[in-house]
Formats: sequence, C-alpha cells, structure tokens
Amino acid sequence: MSYLDYYQHTPEAFDAKIPAYFDAGSPMETAIDTCMRYSLEAGGKRLRPLLLLEFCTAYGGNDEAAYPFAMAIEMIHTYSLIHDDLPCMDDDKLRRGKPTNHVVYGEDMAVLAGDGLLNTAAELMAQAAMASRESVRALKAMYTILKASGTRGMILGQVADIKMQSQETDVTALDYINHYKTGKLLTAAMTAGAVLGGAPDDEVGKIERIGHKVGLLFQVVDDLLDLTGDVQKMGKEVHIDSRNDKVTYPLLLGIQTTQQRIEQLRDEILAETASLSIHMRFFEETIKFLTIRDH
Ligand code: IPE
Ligand code: IPE
Ligand code: MG
Ligand code: MG
Ligand code: MG
Repeated sequence: MSYLDYYQHTPEAFDAKIPAYFDAGSPMETAIDTCMRYSLEAGGKRLRPLLLLEFCTAYGGNDEAAYPFAMAIEMIHTYSLIHDDLPCMDDDKLRRGKPTNHVVYGEDMAVLAGDGLLNTAAELMAQAAMASRESVRALKAMYTILKASGTRGMILGQVADIKMQSQETDVTALDYINHYKTGKLLTAAMTAGAVLGGAPDDEVGKIERIGHKVGLLFQVVDDLLDLTGDVQKMGKEVHIDSRNDKVTYPLLLGIQTTQQRIEQLRDEILAETASLSIHMRFFEETIKFLTIRDH
C-alpha cells in the first residue's frame, strides 16, 4: 500500500467505527451523544489515531486491540478543540469545515460535550484494559494518554497559552507552551502505540524524545498556516492568532526563518527515527507530509 493510500484509508476505517461508540441512530442515543458526535464525525486529519496505530503495528501489536485507544485519543483531542474554540478561549466559529460546536449547540452543551468526550475516552480505555490479555500494557497506554492530556500535559499548555504575555515571550517560552499544549498528546499517541505493541522501555524513551520534536514541528506549521493558509482547505478560520494577540513563530522569527525551523525539525526527527530498532517507513512519510501540509 502506498503511503497516500494508507493515509487516506486509515481515517476512513477509523471514521466507520465512530457510530458504534455512541448508540448512533438508536433509541439509546441522547442529546449529549449527538453533540459529541457532531465534532468527532466532522473529520480532521486523524493524526493522533494514525500515529498510535502506526506505532502499535510497527512493534508487532494488533490494530484491532489498539482501536479503543486510538478512538480515545481522538476523543480527547476533539474535546480540546471544542473547548479551545469557545468564546472564553479562542472564540472560533469554524472547525473541521463546520460551525464550531458551541455555535450549533450553545456554550453550555459544548462545555458538556468536551467533558463527555474526555470521560468516554477514559471509560473506553479502562474497558479495553479489563478485557485485554495484555492488561499491563493496556493500563500503561491508558496512563500515558491521560497524563499527557492532563494538568502536566495539554491542559498545562493551554493555561500557558492563555497566560502568555506578548512582551515576555521568546522562542524558548513559545517552545515550552507548545511542548505541552500540542506536543504532549502527539507524543502520547506515539508512545502509547509503541507500548501497546510491546516496545521495550528504552525504545519508548527514544520515541518520546522524537515526539517532543514532532509536537514542535506540528505547532510551528499550525502557526504558519494561521498566517498563510486557506480557510477552505484548513476547515478553520485563519488570522485568528493575531486577532487574539497570540505570539507565534512567524511573528517572532518571520516567515522565512520559520520555514527553515520546520525543515530543521523534520531533518532532526528523520535522523532520530533512523536510530530506532524498527524501520518506521510510514512514520517517515507522515513527518514529510506534516512539513508540507496545507490543512
Ligand atoms: C489542531 O490540531 C490543534 C492543534 C493541536 C494545533 P489538528 O490540526 O490535528 O486538528 P484536526 O484533528 O486535523 O482537526
Ligand atoms: C490548540 O492550539 C491546541 C489545543 C487544542 C490543545 P491552537 O489554538 O493553535 O489550535 P487551532 O489553531 O485553534 O486549531
Ligand atoms: Mg488556542
Ligand atoms: Mg485555537
Ligand atoms: Mg493554531
């Protein structure tokens, strides 16, 4: 399978599994299910599940057993986006090509949909761990994902993003914010996948260090796309960072140096990936895609 086929096929296979997690269309479906499903089914790149499944299968794991974790991490990511878009946060009206959750369902339901997705994610992983023949690996993956999204992970990064004062922020401070707000969850997708697949601890440590750079690479591109991207392709509004007085890489470094930083991070990630015990061909392609993405 070519990388492009793989990249397109995995999100399709992933999306096909979503309704089953929500009693979709059955009399059991409730208002909160519909509201959560709206944002989860709206699409997106499905990068975190893709990475989790890639790393799990690369180390010899079974992707069916990893699916609840792939679903859980995408639920957590989707919750973070619903809350990130609220008027009290970034105040965005468009996400994944559709009106944001609070625009459609109201702020009260959007807050609860975020809460609900986080809770459902934890339930799914706990259930999978109870049913697993490799319950220690499953619990470790669950812990990795929940810790990375928590107050020493993504939430800490969102707090730093809110508190950041433009006059005090330099590239080191921006890297700190992005390491937490974006890097932690992306890294967890990779390390939780590797853990589920049975990778040894020292290998997981190496993957964690690579993940740190993947998070930075991803957010540098996200910042650049806010300035240079196209609303139609991105499915989210642009020029939001400047409107919200956010300090970004292109603002601090200029577009050209930002582009150089992207290429430098790509090269470092590829070099470090080559030192893993397994040849991660799809991951290398994912990294190359992330440096040139337009959505
Ligand atoms: C957007 O994430 C939020 C950031 C962490 C920068 P993605 O760009 O992965 O969003 P989707 O999942 O494709 O919608
Ligand atoms: C959001 O970062 C990161 C999280 C949701 C944790 P951004 O605010 O830059 O994401 P976009 O640009 O709205 O997708
Ligand atoms: Mg934000
Ligand atoms: Mg935002
Ligand atoms: Mg952004």
